[in-house]
Amino acid sequence: MSYNLLKGKKGIIFGALNDKSIAWKVAERAVEEGATITLSNAPVAVRMGEISVLGEKLNAEIIPADATSYSDLENVFLKSMEILGGQIDFVLHSIGMSPNVRKKRTYDDIDYDMMAKTFDISAISFHKMLQAAKKNHAIADGGSVIALSYIAAQRTLFGYNDMADAKALLESIARSFGYIYGREHGVRVNTISQSPTMTTAGSGIKGMTSLFDFANRMAPLGNATAEDCADYCIVMFSDLTRKVTMQNLYHDGGFSSMGMSYRAMNQYEKSLNEDEFLNPDGSVIYG
Ligand SMILES: NC(=O)c1ccc[n+]([C@@H]2O[C@H](COP(=O)([O-])OP(=O)(O)OC[C@H]3O[C@@H](n4cnc5c(N)ncnc54)[C@H](O)[C@@H]3O)[C@@H](O)[C@H]2O)c1
Repeated sequence: MSYNLLKGKKGIIFGALNDKSIAWKVAERAVEEGATITLSNAPVAVRMGEISVLGEKLNAEIIPADATSYSDLENVFLKSMEILGGQIDFVLHSIGMSPNVRKKRTYDDIDYDMMAKTFDISAISFHKMLQAAKKNHAIADGGSVIALSYIAAQRTLFGYNDMADAKALLESIARSFGYIYGREHGVRVNTISQSPTMTTAGSGIKGMTSLFDFANRMAPLGNATAEDCADYCIVMFSDLTRKVTMQNLYHDGGFSSMGMSYRAMNQYEKSLNEDEFLNPDGSVIYG
C-alpha cells in the first residue's frame, strides 16, 4: 500500500545485490511511495547482473561504484543529479563486507590488511559518501541519509568478528557528520540497527541460523524482516521525521531492550548443541 510519502523525491540506493537484499526492498518501496531513484553497487556485483532486473522494473539507472573509491562515489552523486534532474533527497548506504569473516579468520587471529578493508568497505565508505555529497552540494536541504547497522556495535555477539568494530565506526560517523551536515544544510544522518536478516551478507555470519532464532525468540515482536526495514527507511526518508538526526535507531522487534524472554529460556532449557563450536581438543572456537 502506498501513502505517497516520497512523492517527487529523488534518491540513491546503494547495495541491492539480489532480491534478498535489504536495499532491494527499500528501492521497491521508495518507488512505490512516489520517488525516482538510481541504484549503485560494486562493479563486480553489477556484472553479476541481478540488479539489472531491479533497474528495469523500477526504471532506475545503475551506476557502478566501488564503495572504497571516493571518485566512484562522487561520480554516483554527480550522475544521479544529472539523471534525476536535481539535488538528491535521500540516500541509503546498505553496504557491508569483512574479508576476515569470509576467510574464517577469528577475532583473535585477525589479518590487519583485511581488517582495514572491512572498515573501508563497511564504514569509511559512509564518510566518503557524505563528504562527496556535501562537497558537490548533491543532497538537498532537509535531505535524509541512512546507513544500516547491527547491535554488535554495542554488545558483543559470538562470531560477528571485525564487523562489530566496523558498525561502531559507522554509527560514530553518522553522529560526527550528522552534526556538520545538519547544522549547515539541515541534512539528517542516521543509522538503523536491523534484526538478523537472511540475506547474502547475513548468511556469512557464523551461526546465523541460531543467531536468527535466538533474536526472534528474544524479541517480543519477533525479528524485523527486510520488508519491515524498508518501511522504516521510507518513514526516515520522508518529511515526517525532519527533526530526527544523529541517532542509531533500533529496528529489531524489541530485542535490544530484552535480557531474557520466556521463549528463549524455554528453548535454552531443552539444551542446545554445545559441541557445535568446539575444536576437536574441546577448546571453544571464538568468532
Ligand atoms: N543481514 C543482516 O542480518 C543484517 C543485520 C543488520 C544490518 N545489516 C546490514 O545491512 C546492510 C546490507 O546487507 P544485506 O543484509 O542486505 O546483505 P547483501 O549481501 O544483500 O548486501 C550487502 C551489499 O554490500 C555490497 N558491497 C560489498 N562490498 C562492496 C564494495 N566494495 N563496494 C560497493 N558495494 C559493496 C554488496 O555488493 C551487497 O550489495 C549491510 O550494511 C549489513 O551489514 C544486515
